[in-house]
Amino acid sequence: MKPFYITTAIDYVNGSPHIGHAYEKVLADVIARFRRLMGDTVFFLTGTDEHGQKVQQSARKRGIEPQLLADEVSAEFRALLPRLGISNDDFIRTTEPRHKKVVRAILQQLHDQGDIYLGEYRGFYSTRQEQFLQDKDRNPDGSWPEIFGEVTEIVEPNYFFRLRAHQAWLVEHLAANPGFIFPHYRQKQVLEFLKEPLNDLCISRPRNRLEWGIPLPFDETYVTYVWFDALVNYYSAVADRPGLWPAAWHVIGKDILVPPHAVYWPIMLKAAGLPLPGGILVHGWWTTAGAKMSKSTGNALNPLDLVDEFGADAFRYFLIREMNVGQDSDFSREAFLVRYDGDLANDLGNLLNRVLNMTQRFAGGVVPAAPAGGDIEAEVRAGWEAARAAFLPLCEGFQFHTALERIFTFVKSINAYIERRAPWKLGKSADPADQETLRAALATMAEALRLCATALEPVMPSTATRIREALGLGARSGPWIDELAWGGRLAGSTVSASLVLFPRSVRK
Ligand code: ME8
Ligand code: MG
Repeated sequence: MKPFYITTAIDYVNGSPHIGHAYEKVLADVIARFRRLMGDTVFFLTGTDEHGQKVQQSARKRGIEPQLLADEVSAEFRALLPRLGISNDDFIRTTEPRHKKVVRAILQQLHDQGDIYLGEYRGFYSTRQEQFLQDKDRNPDGSWPEIFGEVTEIVEPNYFFRLRAHQAWLVEHLAANPGFIFPHYRQKQVLEFLKEPLNDLCISRPRNRLEWGIPLPFDETYVTYVWFDALVNYYSAVADRPGLWPAAWHVIGKDILVPPHAVYWPIMLKAAGLPLPGGILVHGWWTTAGAKMSKSTGNALNPLDLVDEFGADAFRYFLIREMNVGQDSDFSREAFLVRYDGDLANDLGNLLNRVLNMTQRFAGGVVPAAPAGGDIEAEVRAGWEAARAAFLPLCEGFQFHTALERIFTFVKSINAYIERRAPWKLGKSADPADQETLRAALATMAEALRLCATALEPVMPSTATRIREALGLGARSGPWIDELAWGGRLAGSTVSASLVLFPRSVRK
């Protein structure tokens, strides 16, 4: 079976990581973990994008070499990964020899084939966006929108990559593969863009203006311009690992879909004779007070603050539970605390403590072998069957926010079941029928909790492990999917003393 190869965008090293970057890694990680649990061999790549004008400028401002700045900031992005519980298999830096070698080989091949030619570029250039602008980018009054920063007119000879000849097959590919871009509504945006004839892509910058890049192999007085460099990372990282290319999914934000990932990248691959990726998963933006969080506007929040305070799993839960993949979501500490105190501390944390405490109190800490129980135990089991049936397809379809909602609705229903069954009352009764019901109740609530913990593993891996351990379970022995089935797996298991998973927050 072909390995499942998944990538994130590679982050520019022109600023520190913020919640938007953290989210993209967590989203890709949830998919990677889910696929591994489903039995796939997964290869998960992330990394940093280190060349370009902005890095050169920032380094100059600080009076240091761009390589030093890149080393520093790349290390910061890299350090974030273990703190967020990211299970990446590799981390690529575009300044690494393995990357540069592949970029140069592809450029040489395309040049030899006649796909790259020397022409003259005249245009308005935005340094902040590292792109030439077009008239349609202007404000109605003719000025350039804020987001482009400083815009200057430039005329210079440059190398171009022929795109026009590729337009027709790309449109056909999109039509034939409606799942190529997720969510599907983004595909329309790409087709819209492809209605206009494609201009050839300028892929170089003269080295006297931009030194910090990969020199063109056929003309060393130029370096290649960011997208031709950056996009190739997905391939360069695995060029020496047989069987991985093409990627199953590229996970990216909506600002870099059209044209880079949806137009340039497929065309670059096709021209180089390489297969296209399976799909492009496009997420929305985290905003603060309605504005995109970004390095350049200075409204970015440091993800590590929340991780330090509440732990990686709580942070991961919040990001995945709040964001409907593709749409935007507004971040606030208040919204985070509502999820944290409500779903995690109250619902899940409370359930764990009830299971542990009552098993200690009424069964000497050993989960009883499950008698069948009554109707309301059957209801809990049926509730799980329904949740599980919905959960897997939702995960397959990247609807993780709804998948989590289903699991937490089930968590709430177990707590409601416990209230109704009131084991503390049964515990006081000497009637053997009540004792039998009590054992059924203890077995039912422990099993239901085990199933929730198992389902939460892709999103909250260390919480899942802590709950399993508290329930006296060792490492999983069989396939994950089998462990999602209701069964008496806990009978005879010795549970731990009470454990606080998510201490209630102190409101500031
Ligand atoms: O675009 N919310 O790098 P980057 C959600 N180097 N996602 C966000 C976000 C936000 N507020 N801000 C940024 C680049 N992102 C290029 C990519 S790929 C070959 C080269 C996402 O550091 C953004 O959409 O500006 C992108 O997917 C990723 O973070 C890196 O952004
Ligand atoms: Mg950006």
